[in-house]
Amino acid sequence: MDIQLAVDNAKCIKCGKCIKVCPSRIFEWSSNGNCRSVKVENVQSCIKCGHCAAVCRAMAIKHSLFPPEKVHPVDYGALPTPEQVMLLCKARRSNRALVSKEVPQEFIDKILETANAAPTASNLQQLEYTVVTSQDKITAIIEFVLDYFASMVRLLENPLLKPLLKRVLGDGAYRYVGVFQRIREAYKKGDDQILRGAKCVVFIHAPRSSRFADADANLAYQNGSLMAESLGVSQIYTGFVCTAAKKGKGRLERILGIDPTRRIVAGMALGMAEFRYPNFIDREPLKANII
Ligand SMILES: Cc1cc2nc3c(=O)[nH]c(=O)nc-3n(C[C@H](O)[C@H](O)[C@H](O)COP(=O)(O)O)c2cc1C
Repeated sequence: MDIQLAVDNAKCIKCGKCIKVCPSRIFEWSSNGNCRSVKVENVQSCIKCGHCAAVCRAMAIKHSLFPPEKVHPVDYGALPTPEQVMLLCKARRSNRALVSKEVPQEFIDKILETANAAPTASNLQQLEYTVVTSQDKITAIIEFVLDYFASMVRLLENPLLKPLLKRVLGDGAYRYVGVFQRIREAYKKGDDQILRGAKCVVFIHAPRSSRFADADANLAYQNGSLMAESLGVSQIYTGFVCTAAKKGKGRLERILGIDPTRRIVAGMALGMAEFRYPNFIDREPLKANII
């Protein structure tokens, strides 16, 4: 879609902020004698980030993607304090004690909207979300992962391949044989250690061709997970599911009806927690070098 971009010189207060913030350097000063104004050049290099519209207090930017109804004032006084942000980050946990209650749709919507506000490389905004709430599909996801575990165990325990695989993959991979078998046994007894009894799973997917899909999806994930915590919804990163999806040659995407040109990158199991934790704990001490 062609972008229409101009500066309304009748409104422009000539602060030059659009010139400073545009990542594509589209705005420039233009001088005419003593009079200077802002002009736009190379509009086709716009990455649609909207910095120009967001930074302009005079609302002088006329950008076809950011008409006035898409530009909202920020009340910085309404932001959480640094202490509140810190507390939210430290209080957020992957609480696996879920009750069999649906996650309210309005909570899911807020989590998605927050995730979708995350930055993406080159502002490409190629992430999409598939929200699974049907119990049949949730069971299909778990069975897909259990199948993957079974195939991994068969491969790792193949008597002809085992000596070679042990040498190539090391003991680390073999540690998972026991884990996979325990998870499969537990599931047979009604203990779901894959989705933990979640009532909703949000998959974040990106085009297979995307170079920054993992970074984009995981930044979106973390935004969503902080919103989940603030809503009192528990989230658990679906690492096992994502690993199986990655190795699954598009099978999970097919099960979920996701376009075959896209791949699942991150997944968030959501559920209502039986209780919240009264404490947060310290992580390992920060390891940071200042150079
Ligand atoms: C990439 C990644 C994959 C994960 N996969 C799983 C998983 O498959 N199942 C699970 O129960 N937890 C999973 N987790 C949750 C971690 O175990 C958890 O984040 C970690 O133990 C720290 O606990 P916290 O999230 O409560 O702070 C995963 C976390 C990350 C970041």
